Amino acid sequence: MSDKLKIKIKPLAFMDLLAFKNLVPKRKKMFDNASSAKPEEKPVVNVLAKRLHPIRQYMTIEEVKDVAPDVKSFKLKADASKGTNELAMFRAGQYLSVKLNIEEERLTRPYSIASSPKDSLEGYYTLTIKHAAFATDYLWENWKAGAKIETSGPEGQFYYSALRDMEHIAAIAGGSGITPFLSMISDFNDKGWPVKFTLFYGCNTIADIVERKKLDLIAESSGGKFKAVFVIAKEKCEEGMETGFITAELIKKYIKPEECSFFICGPQAMYTFINKELSAFSLPKKQLRYEVFGESKNVAIMDGYPKDVAESFSINAKYRGEMIHITAISRESVLVAMERAGFAPPSKCRSGQCGFCRTRLISGDVYIPAENDDRRAADKKFGVIHACSSYPLSDLTIEVPYDEV
Ligand code: FES
Repeated sequence: MSDKLKIKIKPLAFMDLLAFKNLVPKRKKMFDNASSAKPEEKPVVNVLAKRLHPIRQYMTIEEVKDVAPDVKSFKLKADASKGTNELAMFRAGQYLSVKLNIEEERLTRPYSIASSPKDSLEGYYTLTIKHAAFATDYLWENWKAGAKIETSGPEGQFYYSALRDMEHIAAIAGGSGITPFLSMISDFNDKGWPVKFTLFYGCNTIADIVERKKLDLIAESSGGKFKAVFVIAKEKCEEGMETGFITAELIKKYIKPEECSFFICGPQAMYTFINKELSAFSLPKKQLRYEVFGESKNVAIMDGYPKDVAESFSINAKYRGEMIHITAISRESVLVAMERAGFAPPSKCRSGQCGFCRTRLISGDVYIPAENDDRRAADKKFGVIHACSSYPLSDLTIEVPYDEV
């Protein structure tokens, strides 16, 4: 056999080569012939990007409903009088960062959208919120029909992707962690169930189940594609439900874990419990997706938090060229310290994920929980912290970020 390389040339393949060779001169000719006048209209792609990812959205509260004890649903409509003529489309599972002005403080809170993406095309979102403390005290008092509110565009990575996820979704919700799943279930229902979906929904009592009727109705009409397993912790359950907690054994009773992508959303304490249960299945990381849960409620119990940390520290905050002295409580994040001092640093997820609160740490030490440290390698190297997931361990000097938009 000859050592010569045998290359088969397709008949007329030289035409491809010729087209390739002419590509650069052809493009140059197009540039040369193009008008140098500034286009009168904005490029279509920029207009579309702004519609899909608005920095701010203004809305009016149209309706408020009690959907479970201490849980309200707020139906929001675009507020054209403030310049929001339509609501941005979103992916089921995303959240809005709500901007609030409470007692001289400008702060944000992330709330998952509970309605279907289809509803945003019809002009509304629904936020379903559980009453907790501080910010929700304000919402319960002020968010009535007709009230005007401001939010970010839709944000977050907690959504189904056909390219990445398996065809059977196992959703684990604890309490108010049901909200992104309400949106996903409505979305899949609107689309005729492209995936199978099993919801494990843990509640303290039967009355705490949010939208039970709606979930039952969708399950009945889904042709077996959707099943809701209600798991009741603090009272005897009804027939067809489960009593106790969402354990590995209970999960295996309903699904084959190795064939599912798991989506998990609930209070911080639930994550510790459920992680232990899920570890029994030895699933690869890519099959486990967690929604962020906001700031740590009790940083002192988190892994690696040092002992004997002082109650408070002082922060020298460089803000718009001035150095301002503020006090920080050690168990609250640097972001909260800035908000308490009346700054309005940008923030969205409040969980260390989105990077909107990037802050330069000039000197001092902070504690950052490993599970909330989503900083880029370069940020870590050059002393940038995410203020929402950083807790002072000494006096600090920082440069406060601000929204220039
Ligand atoms: S607000 Fe998202 S990382 Fe801090």
